[in-house]
Amino acid sequence: MKGKRILLGITGGIAAYKIAFLIRLLKKKEADVKCIMTPASCDFISPLTIATLSENPVYIDFWNQKDGTWTNHVDLGMWPDVFLIAPLTANTLAKLIHGQSDNLLTATFLSAKSPVIVAPAMDLDMYIHPATKRNLAQLELDGVQIIPAESGELASGLVGQGRLAEPENIVAVLEEFFAKSNAFQGQKVLITAGPTYERIDPVRFIGNHSSGKMGFEIAKVFLSQGAEVTLISGPTKEKLTHKNLILHSIQTAEEMLAEVQSCWKTMNVGVFAAAVADYRPESPEVQKIKKNEERMTINLVKNPDILAWAGANKTENQKLVGFALETNDAEKHGFDKLKRKNLDFIVVNTLEDKGAGFGVDTNRIKIIDKSNKLISFELKPKHQVALDIVNYLKENIES
Ligand code: PMT
Repeated sequence: MKGKRILLGITGGIAAYKIAFLIRLLKKKEADVKCIMTPASCDFISPLTIATLSENPVYIDFWNQKDGTWTNHVDLGMWPDVFLIAPLTANTLAKLIHGQSDNLLTATFLSAKSPVIVAPAMDLDMYIHPATKRNLAQLELDGVQIIPAESGELASGLVGQGRLAEPENIVAVLEEFFAKSNAFQGQKVLITAGPTYERIDPVRFIGNHSSGKMGFEIAKVFLSQGAEVTLISGPTKEKLTHKNLILHSIQTAEEMLAEVQSCWKTMNVGVFAAAVADYRPESPEVQKIKKNEERMTINLVKNPDILAWAGANKTENQKLVGFALETNDAEKHGFDKLKRKNLDFIVVNTLEDKGAGFGVDTNRIKIIDKSNKLISFELKPKHQVALDIVNYLKENIES
């Protein structure tokens, strides 16, 4: 864990005393630890103890009352490789799922750019209450990793699940997290995203409803796992900056093809999530077309199939993933595209599923791989879907 930046959020529960041991373990492993404490947590463990062990100032308030300076939660959220909240009380859990930002810790959670891991701790009845279960399930859906509470004797005298995971076990989870987060270190990944716009005249185009969200979420997951990502995107409102990201914005399928062709042979992985227009106007008009006629015809010619080109020019060491957006017979069409475009696996989504496909923040996918294995996933936020896709690639596709 040498040099890994861990932002540790401490909330107000009796288990806060164990955090002193956790910080000792993290420091022994040469992690860089900064801590945010909620005001309530200061009743359970002293900020002086936390500052001394972490060898860093402790952040508690938005304002430093001594010199009137502001503690920038946005900068804090940008700093870490992982944001760990331990112990996580039922109260802070409820705030996190509702996006409340009434203290520095909850505000930083909303600003955090890094993955977040939480270790809840509370009394037995609180832990098994339907509200807590519901809140933990929602937090997980929001992309937060949960280290379940452990069973044993609780501060109340009750015995059951609710104890903060032992510091050694939290460290083990973090070590696994960092091992995974380096999984694509040194790997180059090409991603296509968004729609293409095919010009009819200077003011009109043929396009589609792709927002780019799916492709951008996939890029984020690869970046978080150490990859160098080249993202070629059609017009989108999505924004992404990262030191390991090269972003090419294009309009048309031909422009996308040119970008793909210029870099594909240097790539280890390609994931093609763009919704490329299959046809383009044969001769786009130079001037705006006037509405003089009752009918008009636009001659269309076929666009190049960019994914099929990458599949035809794929070496044994390259992995290639395509998408299939269908409206009927999704699996059948998926199988066909998998073979025809020489893919390692294809991600099938269909507009028959509510909440899946274009524009929305969720998706429901099936993966069909080259050994014809088919795996179905539930409807999930696109970030989680992206994680499923990247994990499948990591765990099932040999290079
Ligand atoms: O962008 P969002 O709003 O988040 O929506 C996500 C999505 C629905 C666009 C995405 O999940 C998706 O399904 N992307 C592929 C859409 C599509 O055009 O599928 P297709 O079945 O027409 O194409 C099959 C595959 O070939 C795709 O990987 C596509 O990128 C690729 N293709 C298609 C045509 C072409 N000329 N060149 C290509 O590279």
